[in-house]
Amino acid sequence: MNMSVIDVMKERRSTRAYLDKPVEREILERLLSLATQAPSAINLQPWEFVIVSGEEKKRLSKLLVKRMRERNISCGPGAKKPLSEHFVERQRGLLQCMLPNLPEGTRFDDFINEGSCNFYGAPTAIIITLDKVFSSARLTDIGITLGYLVLAAHVMGLGTCPIGLITAFDDDIREQLNISEEKQVVVGIAVGYRDESSPLNKSRSDRVPVSDVVKWRE
Ligand SMILES: Cc1cc2nc3c(=O)[nH]c(=O)nc-3n(C[C@H](O)[C@H](O)[C@H](O)COP(=O)(O)O)c2cc1C
Repeated sequence: MNMSVIDVMKERRSTRAYLDKPVEREILERLLSLATQAPSAINLQPWEFVIVSGEEKKRLSKLLVKRMRERNISCGPGAKKPLSEHFVERQRGLLQCMLPNLPEGTRFDDFINEGSCNFYGAPTAIIITLDKVFSSARLTDIGITLGYLVLAAHVMGLGTCPIGLITAFDDDIREQLNISEEKQVVVGIAVGYRDESSPLNKSRSDRVPVSDVVKWRE
């Protein structure tokens, strides 16, 4: 529990294999109390969380996997036009780092699509919603609380994986979890104990050098 923030930022990576061990409610409450320390515009704290565990999580995963197969939805970059080569290269980098650790014969896309809809077998799925009264500017605040959550989870010995794919099924999620029409499903997060023995958790994505994404003006 006494890792520095810098250690946590460097160490954390997404978890795509979990132990079959529930995360206790008190632990999830602590996690959420840390995630909600995030800054937000005018301190609006526009985020809302739905915590899905136990049988309800199994039902949700089953529904999402079914819908994904029916509608042939796939994880994509959410881009408005074809991506430039440097973005494509980063995507390729993720594929290359994960591919050697996938079970033999598994297609990368199938693993990501099915895995995402199943929250990679994590015992808990967290759904973050935003009231539709807000403009897309408030998605920034959701991103920050997501960042706090994944870092806090890491310190607490929990693995996480943000899951954007499920937003393709926002109507189904709202219906299944009794979430009001007034809320937008922004992102899901798989939360659970990491299966350290799984090769899937050995993959470590890289980052481009800071100089590739920074311009200095003096
Ligand atoms: C907003 C957002 C949505 C994401 N959606 C998915 C997803 O649907 N499925 C998945 O497997 N990973 C998803 N990820 C995880 C990214 O693939 C991962 O963060 C990225 O490859 C960097 O790897 P790292 O988290 O291990 O550092 C998402 C991450 C973010 C921030």
